[in-house]
Amino acid sequence: MDTFINTNIVPESEISDAYEHMSSVRRMIKSPSYAVVRTLGCQMNEHDSEKLAGMLEQMGYTIIDDYKSQKADLVIFNTCCIRENAEGKVLGRLGELKMIKRSNQEMIIAVCGCMTEQPHIVDIIKKKHKHVNLVFGTHDIHRFPAMLEKTLAANKNVYDISSTRGDMHEVPEGLPIRREDNTKAWVTVMYGCNNFCSYCIVPYVRGRERSRSPQDILAEIDKLDREGFKEITLLGQNVNSYGKDLARANDKPCSFALLLDDICDMLDKKESANIKRIRFMTSHPKDLSDQLIDVMARRSQICNQLHLPVQSGSTEILRRMNRRYSREQYLALVDKIRARIPSIALSTDIIVGFPGETEQDFEDTVSLVKQVRYDSAYTFIYSPRVGTPAASYDNQIDEETVKNRFNRLLDAHNTICREINDTYLGKTVEILVDGPSKTDPEHYTGRTSENKIVNFVVDESKISKEDIIGKIIKVEIAGIQTWSLDGKM
Ligand code: 5AD
Ligand code: SF4
Repeated sequence: MDTFINTNIVPESEISDAYEHMSSVRRMIKSPSYAVVRTLGCQMNEHDSEKLAGMLEQMGYTIIDDYKSQKADLVIFNTCCIRENAEGKVLGRLGELKMIKRSNQEMIIAVCGCMTEQPHIVDIIKKKHKHVNLVFGTHDIHRFPAMLEKTLAANKNVYDISSTRGDMHEVPEGLPIRREDNTKAWVTVMYGCNNFCSYCIVPYVRGRERSRSPQDILAEIDKLDREGFKEITLLGQNVNSYGKDLARANDKPCSFALLLDDICDMLDKKESANIKRIRFMTSHPKDLSDQLIDVMARRSQICNQLHLPVQSGSTEILRRMNRRYSREQYLALVDKIRARIPSIALSTDIIVGFPGETEQDFEDTVSLVKQVRYDSAYTFIYSPRVGTPAASYDNQIDEETVKNRFNRLLDAHNTICREINDTYLGKTVEILVDGPSKTDPEHYTGRTSENKIVNFVVDESKISKEDIIGKIIKVEIAGIQTWSLDGKM
């Protein structure tokens, strides 16, 4: 593997400063002190929260779950702004916390993440939520300890967002991470997005694409493997652009396909690697290379699954979304992937009700879904985002039409999902066991390489939890649900 110089990296001195601030906070707070980290939004945010929780633990906080608990000394909301309802939820919860803070005046409330990168939201918080003590954005997670120290020391609220300091766009390395799971781990490979799809706020709040260097990614994965993790998911807003910035800066090839090969080589060289499964998300169709398809086909660790958001089945809507592929190009890509990996499970994201979407455009989406036959589809109602081009497009679609289309799309996809699941009946599949199901303690749950959820009953008098949690086991599929499979050990 080549060594890459990453010019975007946060200087080591700033990371050691961060550790000093963590020690200062540890001296300032009472012992024990309790913190709650609440996350809204995508896996990227979930993983950022693991970093926030890692730093909070280093500062001496014990992490607890319930933000309504009187016990909490600090509550931090890591927010999302991809759709309006995500923002509404946060503002609603901040309202609830006002009441709780009345009986626990010392409680520190912090809000960070994508939402707070938008000046109009910071204004709302400043005006209507004065009980929020600390507000910061997505670019400076390593500055959180310094900001918290300032908040604890000063008797006034601290607002520290990139729009007030200019975009920083740096890659932090070496921060503590408190992983939520012992079996599966997230690994960021790149931050930001350069695509500017016309509906999407992400490029504005997460900044330009910045890749982590392959050596830092490999070192993290090597550590996770030694710690006993079984599955990793590589994260990036558009993993298929991974390394383009590094290749330019270092004048040598660097790509997501090469990174995957390097990761698999490293694991293959170990006598008995713990990491057995690799997933990644998200892939932009326009950037998915033949080399990536090839590495997915060749490498046994890479799961038999690909998330490939299509957003719409109409070429005209795709053009106005600035997706830079047509319906035909997308379908040709799917054919190419399936020709090489016939059993691959495909999933997608779809937006219904983009401005100007005609009945025919919508029908094109339904017909594409029927043609591709996705294993799973995340469907969203278009939500205008302040500052994005599409928010000011003519012909915003009325609510009733959108809801009607949304339900029709769900129906069409549910039928396909069910039909695909039916083909599993009687088959034996390998699953990585997550643990007892969150909704039904009688059942355990696991996932196949295709990311299908399998629920199964464990006779705890015969098999102990330790024997199966985090293990890859075989189960026979004995029943079918729309969203999941029922297995028998
Ligand atoms: N409205 C609705 N859905 C959106 N997404 C992104 N922006 C919007 C928006 N303004 C969806 C896209 C993307 C997924 C993460 O969220 O489908 O792939
Ligand atoms: Fe948003 Fe498009 Fe970037 Fe995805 S690729 S984060 S949808 S701008």
